[in-house]
Amino acid sequence: MVSDVATEVRLATLDEIREEAESCTRCDLYRHATQTVFGEGSNEASVMFVAEQPGDREDIEGRPFVGPAGRLFDAILEEVGIERKKTYVTNAVKHFKFQLRGKRRIHSKPNAGEISACRWWLDQELALIQPAVTVALGATAARALVGKPVPIMKFRGATMQSDKGWPVLVTVHPSYLLRIPDPMDRHAERRRFVEDMRKVKALMK
Ligand code: URA
Repeated sequence: MVSDVATEVRLATLDEIREEAESCTRCDLYRHATQTVFGEGSNEASVMFVAEQPGDREDIEGRPFVGPAGRLFDAILEEVGIERKKTYVTNAVKHFKFQLRGKRRIHSKPNAGEISACRWWLDQELALIQPAVTVALGATAARALVGKPVPIMKFRGATMQSDKGWPVLVTVHPSYLLRIPDPMDRHAERRRFVEDMRKVKALMK
């Protein structure tokens, strides 16, 4: 099913939308972030990965998933044979939200208002790319797409419907894998994530 913004956005291209997003003030997060981090990848992607929000590295480089979580994500995609450049990778929220602790910028979770304000851009990306499958990486992405909180551990690996009818495969965020202290548990969770990525690969055109 096509999002209800599709007719409107067909007039624009992804590059035009990306440029427009550079001056986004839909919520307050633009005030402290370095820049908007818009999605990137293939305009013809059959899979769109949606993560949470840019981290410190992404905020500096202006590209999604280039920090530690992104490197793990890249390694797992390679392991299952998905070429990242043939997919589209974006975030539910496109500005870095953080708290200053000394000189360090500590990631802070986006709230429902920020997720909802940024949904505008995600809808444009979905309508222009029309992916066969969208993958929600973690709770913020799932909430943004489904329109309500999703218990990730209950639904991981399952395909749900977004509130606008897009099929959404739900899984954990790669940073969750990085935070598991016990190596055995970490390994087991990584394996489950790899299985989810294999499901994604099977759904790709
Ligand atoms: N975490 C995310 O959710 N997205 C990024 O781009 C980087 C880290």
